[in-house]
Amino acid sequence: MTDPRWERLEKAARVLEGRLAERPTVALVLGSGFSEAFGYPGEGVRIPWAEIPGFPLPTVVGHAGEFWAGKIGKNGVLVQRGRTHYYEGCSLDDVTFGVRLFALLGVRTLIVTNASGAINPTFSAGDLVLITDHINTLGINPLRGPNLERLGPRFPDMSATYSKRLRALAKDIAKDEGIALKEGVYWMTCGPSYETPAEIRVYRTLGADLVGMSTVPEVIAAAHAGLEVLGISCATNLAAGVNPEATLSHDEVVEALRKKGPEMRKLLLAIIRRL
Ligand code: HPA
Repeated sequence: MTDPRWERLEKAARVLEGRLAERPTVALVLGSGFSEAFGYPGEGVRIPWAEIPGFPLPTVVGHAGEFWAGKIGKNGVLVQRGRTHYYEGCSLDDVTFGVRLFALLGVRTLIVTNASGAINPTFSAGDLVLITDHINTLGINPLRGPNLERLGPRFPDMSATYSKRLRALAKDIAKDEGIALKEGVYWMTCGPSYETPAEIRVYRTLGADLVGMSTVPEVIAAAHAGLEVLGISCATNLAAGVNPEATLSHDEVVEALRKKGPEMRKLLLAIIRRL
């Protein structure tokens, strides 16, 4: 019997494929607040998620919930404008649905973006940070359950998940474009509450530079499906307690993303053109 998760993916892939003029090789997931700044890079088609059967619909304000498909440079690109978060209450099958869809459509390179809190004391609010690795403390894994053999192996290797090759390319391009880019390890929490200062001290001790509420399940699913992954985070704020006088707010995150949006756009477009 076919796994219902596979049937759901295949059905969605057939519909999405039918709307694409170009075979995508690159996919880009735009996290909180970046969709607006990124806009629609040239001619292409806009496909609301609601028109793709089985696609999980987000509940968070500020997530547009559509794909843009077109060409950037020589590459067919699929841009996922917004994402579904685990804290919204959905399953990790939902959270990873987009990435698995990309794999079915033939995408080879995944670029993920997100917002995070800066744990590393040398980071500042507004820094753009290349994700070098992650720490998954969600307590669950999106690959739990029967393995989707047609996507990837039961026990995928995670030793080199955030591609060294793509990180080197991103660093080169950032240098050429005059964009400062730091590097760090991303720690995912479930959210939606921000962390306590005591939690942040633990995460720092255990090797984290950034903390956020997304990306890790998607990247695990991408690694499973053999995609090459590049992750770029915008450290929108200092994590809880890093500045003992400060408190955290979503408004601050949104404002930082709005400010950094144009720079992120410039960097992403330059990277995709060079892939
Ligand atoms: N913690 C978790 N997620 C976040 C943060 C944070 O400080 N900032 C933006 N996303």
